[in-house]
Amino acid sequence: MADPIRQASAAKGEAAALPLPRALVLVGLMGAGKSCIGRRLSDALGLPFVDADTEIETAAGCTVQEIFERHGEAAFRDGERKVIERLLDGQPQILATGGGAFMDPRTRESIRRHATSLWLRADLDLLVKRTSRRNHRPLLNKGNPRQILGALIDTRYPVYGEADIVIDSVDGPVEKTVQRAVDAIAAFLSDHPSGQAVAQSESKTHHTARKAGE
Ligand code: S3P
Repeated sequence: MADPIRQASAAKGEAAALPLPRALVLVGLMGAGKSCIGRRLSDALGLPFVDADTEIETAAGCTVQEIFERHGEAAFRDGERKVIERLLDGQPQILATGGGAFMDPRTRESIRRHATSLWLRADLDLLVKRTSRRNHRPLLNKGNPRQILGALIDTRYPVYGEADIVIDSVDGPVEKTVQRAVDAIAAFLSDHPSGQAVAQSESKTHHTARKAGE
């Protein structure tokens, strides 16, 4: 019998039929497009969009940069974890997290327990290009952004690889990446209707939608 979830996703404009049972948490490096793709996914899936960094700023009454300057990165990570835990307690939503959130073992465990995670993987050139447009990211203001992002790719990508779903964020029309995400989410839900991968220790087949020609 035809799979209704795959059918719904394949039918243009029917992505809202995807029965997302838990929050969808977007992870990935700075510049991967988590907020941009998250907003589009929120429209496509008919779920609220929440940006964790914005929530942290609202809770703290100052910007992420100011939190880093006044209290240091460790304090920011603490606040980040608490805010994400609070957000995951609510309704299904699309939640974009800051690039370091999934690196915190406790935050990662909360996400694993309460949400479906999607890593927006992007290559170094794209991350450098996208992050060069603004200078509000404290980690990138400490030195050469290309070198910093390259080092973060080395340390973070193996951990981001634990996400339930992996898709490539590529240059070009944003709709392509959104459609790739919708298809990958549909495939994941078809195998895991609860929205949760069975067990962290079990070897997983990622639902990866790769760039054409890769
Ligand atoms: C960070 C990423 C930023 C923000 C903070 C730290 C990181 O969010 O949370 O500057 O450690 O990668 P974006 O990934 O949304 O830029």
